[in-house]
Amino acid sequence: MKEPSQNEDTAKKVHIQTFGCQMNEYDADKMLAVLRHENYFHTNYQEDADLIILNTCSIREKAENRVFSELGRLRKLKSVNPELKIGVGGCVAQQEGESILLREANVDFVFGTDNLFELPEMLNKVSQGQKISQTERHPRQKIRNFIPNYTFQQARHFGIKAHLTITKGCNNHCSFCVVPITRGPEVSREPEDILAEAQQLISVGTKEICLLGQNVNSYKANGVDFVELLHRLDKLENLERLRFISPHPKDFHAVLADAFVTLPSLCEHLHLPLQSGSDRILRGMRRWYTMETFYEKVALLRDRLPEATLSTDLIVGFPGETEEEFEMTMEAVRSVCFDLIYSFKYSSRPGTRAAEYPEHLSENEKSERLRTLLETQEEIVQKKNEALVGSIQEVLIEGKHHRKENTATGRTRGNHPVSIINSATKVGDLLAVRITGAQPNSLEAEPISTSTDSG
Ligand code: SAH
Ligand code: SF4
Ligand code: F3S
Repeated sequence: MKEPSQNEDTAKKVHIQTFGCQMNEYDADKMLAVLRHENYFHTNYQEDADLIILNTCSIREKAENRVFSELGRLRKLKSVNPELKIGVGGCVAQQEGESILLREANVDFVFGTDNLFELPEMLNKVSQGQKISQTERHPRQKIRNFIPNYTFQQARHFGIKAHLTITKGCNNHCSFCVVPITRGPEVSREPEDILAEAQQLISVGTKEICLLGQNVNSYKANGVDFVELLHRLDKLENLERLRFISPHPKDFHAVLADAFVTLPSLCEHLHLPLQSGSDRILRGMRRWYTMETFYEKVALLRDRLPEATLSTDLIVGFPGETEEEFEMTMEAVRSVCFDLIYSFKYSSRPGTRAAEYPEHLSENEKSERLRTLLETQEEIVQKKNEALVGSIQEVLIEGKHHRKENTATGRTRGNHPVSIINSATKVGDLLAVRITGAQPNSLEAEPISTSTDSG
């Protein structure tokens, strides 16, 4: 691909603030790549920017509120610098569209999750004083064609670890979730494009790729399904580690569990979002599995790889959730013993089915349940981490510890964060370490060999 011209005289600065998930971060990189071709460079400082883009998330009300309070703050910057352009992209933009322009006079343009490749045309119109709201969905083929035409080369986040989006959108319509509304129906990218992007990442030094999709394991394109895609990626030379998020339990099968054993690059960690331990609530959530089948899925992995780590997402206080039903979630947490949980208070989202359900719980009830859940989980993780002391793990070095001298940080294949004391390693090294200490959120270790990194 042609390098964008470097013209210092006309160079402009853009600041992108991302509020959402990895998918949003990935989109921010794509936006930067698109804008790089318009001679924009990224700045970390809003005060320096000619263009500020808020890349928004609407998964919970709190995330959405943050966007509007940030827009309020930006009024001051715009009054100091009237030339500053402000754009709102991402999931709130997709859902709210033009109403953002009406609510916040300082916003110049709003663009949806399918429209980031139209930034140059939008900016052109904005520079002529127009206000723009562009949120229409594009046909599948157009989206597919757009994505691979931009590379990470000019973006911020390529590095030792990289994300690679393989599907966009979601067809599941879980009753609590806004994603199918903000991201549209599921589209799988062509396997050739994914492999080419992975190859490109590896060529600039990426060692670990995490595949992204809202329901990543339902991937299918050109007769290639998710497991086949994993097999093809695993064959790429110099790809040390492969991960994926988030698989849906209903699509987690024995063949995928086998891949964890047969594919050397596929890391022994599975994020399997449970959401609730009660079958009645799972039905209300439209998750299409029961606790019995969830336990079976966990067993598929643990029977093959007892040491594999498991993480999950849980929602407390779904409409109508009784004390007994919450206790079922607690029971699931105690029996599965997840290595990590992401837990959320249910948040009612406009346009979703659950928003219309009766019996919404109070904030206090939800907070109380979340606190109980987190306390129990902390005890479980402390025990699980202590059990790792003395074990040998492979760590991919990601950087230096921000406080401790002479200490590197990285992750095990099971995705545990580790601090490695007395290590003269460099970013990207793969190192065998012995775990020497355990805290609730991280492990400590000492190196037991020199770097296995050849490059
Ligand atoms: N596609 C992924 C994750 C989507 S969003 C999946 O299906 O697992 C990440 C997590 O946010 C979800 O797993 C869920 O636990 C949480 N979440 C989504 N909508 C929510 C809502 N309305 N209120 C609270 N948590 C929510
Ligand atoms: Fe949302 Fe469910 Fe789709 Fe995940 S699988 S993005 S929770 S609708
Ligand atoms: Fe948020 Fe959209 Fe991701 S709603 S979680 S940014 S898909």
